[in-house]
Amino acid sequence: MEFYRIQGGRRLQGAVRLQGAKNSALPILAATVAAGGKSVLHHCPQLTDIDATVAMLRHIGCRVTQDGETVTVDASAADSWEIPEHLMREMRSSIIFLGALIARFGRATVTQPGGCDIGLRPINLHLSALQAMGVRVEESGGQIRCSAPDGVRAAELPLALPSVGATENILLAALCAQGETVIRNAAREPEIGDLASFLRACGADITGDGESTVRIRGGRALHDAAFTIMPDRIAAATYMVCAACTGGSIEIAPVIPEHLSPVLPVFREAGCDVRLQGQTLCMTAPARLTRVRSVQTMPYPGFPTDAQAVVMAMLATAQGTSVITEKVFENRFHHIPELRKMGADIRTADCGVAVIEGVPRLHGAAVTASDLRGGSALVAAALGAEGETTVARIAHIDRGCERFAQVLRGLGADIEREQE
Ligand code: UD1
Repeated sequence: MEFYRIQGGRRLQGAVRLQGAKNSALPILAATVAAGGKSVLHHCPQLTDIDATVAMLRHIGCRVTQDGETVTVDASAADSWEIPEHLMREMRSSIIFLGALIARFGRATVTQPGGCDIGLRPINLHLSALQAMGVRVEESGGQIRCSAPDGVRAAELPLALPSVGATENILLAALCAQGETVIRNAAREPEIGDLASFLRACGADITGDGESTVRIRGGRALHDAAFTIMPDRIAAATYMVCAACTGGSIEIAPVIPEHLSPVLPVFREAGCDVRLQGQTLCMTAPARLTRVRSVQTMPYPGFPTDAQAVVMAMLATAQGTSVITEKVFENRFHHIPELRKMGADIRTADCGVAVIEGVPRLHGAAVTASDLRGGSALVAAALGAEGETTVARIAHIDRGCERFAQVLRGLGADIEREQE
């Protein structure tokens, strides 16, 4: 098992070329099955979650080639609509194959998806929306078998929660339904917009993505397309935190400024100087950050739950008391006991509230990553801490942060990847 060894206290400074968005690339890779022909995806991040998705595509018969950040999927030969449990459990986004396979074959057999342990993460909204579209769903022996003996129907689908994954699955399944499917209370995350843009490049008729009502007029023949994955807004926030924890200064490009608008006020309130020039973000942190009164995670355009852990790591040494409320997932605080081992003063209350009393400095410790974002929070904290920290179970971090240690070393960090 590999781990990171980090000597903290080095001020980070320099430029980062931002990776493509993981949460955009994964559903788009699944969507290539629905598109059916040849899809060329540029700026695809090189991550273990991408490798797992490629394995699923190959399993169902797609030809996939990877050349650095370009992934080419030829889905014309796909001939299976079944994904076995050992591939499904690799990550949460495997569930998006459900909609993609239904769009292509009118049926799909999958299992419950795996993914980070950050709460219950049910898929009831995905399944009930598909049922409302005429899909028969049978669950037995751990398998979820979906079929549409009478075809998939366009429908009006109000979501009880603006679920990102459910919105993506409906978008895909609706491609094969004649007529207009309308998703109400759809997720508005930029990754939904990227998926819709890819599908439009393939010839799909989709409007309203990025807003609460999304309309898909299905039944169109789709064609080959080339597409560039958008930059990763969560990775951008992660590198900003890494620099901020060391009183450092960072330039990140390319970014889409609008996608960062939910997180920038938090950095500014903490005392960072943040500037945007076109697609480049420049941030300089003060020697000591100040507290941020209240951060609440919410669906987009609210503060992203995926940036909650890293921002908590940053506020652990800010002057004063900060409060973070996690509103999206009910169990996303696994990083707190690890941050405490490094000297953080963080108390939790019911309802997902964490109260952070900023301490002047964290100290090195042996800590363990329990999920992707919580793991990158520990690395960020270690970069600003006094002494040596080891972070175990970094396979979680490899799922979402492309060449993390290498990028951080380029900014002046002392971080090594070692074998236990
Ligand atoms: C996606 C992201 C994840 C991010 C999350 C919220 C990917 C691969 N993952 O996850 O990084 O943290 O959005 O921005 O894109 N829910 C239900 N029933 C359902 C579906 C969801 O109750 O059928 C609940 C979830 O338990 C959670 C909330 O809705 O409390 C939001 O989940 P959702 O938006 O679906 O997140 P994911 O698509 O799993």
